[in-house]
Amino acid sequence: MSERVTFHLDEDRIPRAWYNIAADLPAPPPPVLHPGTHQPIGPDDLAPLFPPALIAQEVSTERDVEIPEPVRDIYRQWRPSPLRRARRLERALGTPARIYYKYEGVSPAGSHKPNTAIAQAFYNREAGVKRIATETGAGQWGSSLAYAGAIFGIDVLVFMVRVSFGQKPYRRALMETYGARCVASPSPETAAGRVILERDPNHPGSLGIAISEAVEVAAQRDDTKYALGSVLNHVLLHQTVVGLEAMAQMELAGDWPDVLVGCTGGGSNFAGLVFPFLGAQLRGGRPVRVIAVEPAACPSLTRGRYAYDFGDTAHLTPLTKMHTLGSTFTPPGFHAGGLRYHGMAPLVSHVKELGLVEAVAFDQLRCFAAGVEFARAEGIVPAPEANHAVRGAIDEALRCREEGVSRAILLNLCGHGHFDMQAYADYLAGKLTDQRYDEAELAMALSGLPSMPPP
Ligand SMILES: Cc1ncc(COP(=O)(O)O)c(C=O)c1O
Repeated sequence: MSERVTFHLDEDRIPRAWYNIAADLPAPPPPVLHPGTHQPIGPDDLAPLFPPALIAQEVSTERDVEIPEPVRDIYRQWRPSPLRRARRLERALGTPARIYYKYEGVSPAGSHKPNTAIAQAFYNREAGVKRIATETGAGQWGSSLAYAGAIFGIDVLVFMVRVSFGQKPYRRALMETYGARCVASPSPETAAGRVILERDPNHPGSLGIAISEAVEVAAQRDDTKYALGSVLNHVLLHQTVVGLEAMAQMELAGDWPDVLVGCTGGGSNFAGLVFPFLGAQLRGGRPVRVIAVEPAACPSLTRGRYAYDFGDTAHLTPLTKMHTLGSTFTPPGFHAGGLRYHGMAPLVSHVKELGLVEAVAFDQLRCFAAGVEFARAEGIVPAPEANHAVRGAIDEALRCREEGVSRAILLNLCGHGHFDMQAYADYLAGKLTDQRYDEAELAMALSGLPSMPPP
């Protein structure tokens, strides 16, 4: 095996098609339902929110979905992203494991999110859309869509979860630099936000609330659509450039992962890395162990119920079957803002139910410890969300050390933490604590799940 650290692909190796796992699944995922009729929704139900091309991708079962040339052209600004062997981290851990990371922090916004933001803005521009409303947690998605809006000449309005709005002023400045407008959510600008502010003027916000606000704005105006940075099938589809490139890079390395690790908020960076590998496995290729790492303070995959639920707090979205903590659940204000979502992507939930992936949940202090260890060995400061994947990979590498076996571990280092240095400063000063959700609140949120007619 080569002693190389970075496995580069040339620009012409940017994938020409996204990979759609729906083509290879042994059973299709449950349908998305209309909240009133409980019948499967059709394209007309989604038309107020999304352009036709994205609605078609949402239900497509074609294995390869062509990436439009204008999208590939913009991908060239940062893709193919590097895949590196974490040799220094391996040495620091004293592990026989071979640790690789796919580094998505090289994108203009600093994470995997532009992979779908560019595609979504492109299809919206093709459909003549002038304005897009969206939500953002940590600000990674908002700044990615703001960047995509600048490229395609679309106005972007971002509802940013209030707790992150306070924690990350420079993310907001980045969105504004790209030309977007960013407001703290819950906001007085929508009916959904006003109802919550009346009850609690200091409400910390949640992704579920911010989604309600953005959907409400989009549904009201013909020239405005909505965009989501995670969860939906088409978002996961766009992220598969990550895994497709990683497969080619692992071949360059003359190696193949035994274990894949990704963090899960709504599931998009995780699916982006693992779905192409799982697809190969489902078509008879080499099996791979897949681990989803989520925050213990918002553990949808490990503590949630697999049930039909709304994607947002005000119940404006269709019903999807997913692992959910209940749409009214408000997670505590821990630092990985991008992981503070009550639900999980229906496709990720489905592959979990099929037994194709495992899930674990970690507290934030152990994740920051892993991020600091990674930074000191590899030089890159991971985003707090990515620290969850780093923790998962380090734990697997330490298991290799205990067992005296060498396995190849590939993690998705989905973003850098350069806008999150306050969180690191707090961690280093001993000011961060592990946040616990309120069990009573979880029970209450789960008891409010929509009641469905028997199948
Ligand atoms: C860096 C980073 N990682 C992960 C996530 C979680 O989203 P997903 O699970 O869709 O990748 C976010 C969301 O904002 C993020 O900014």
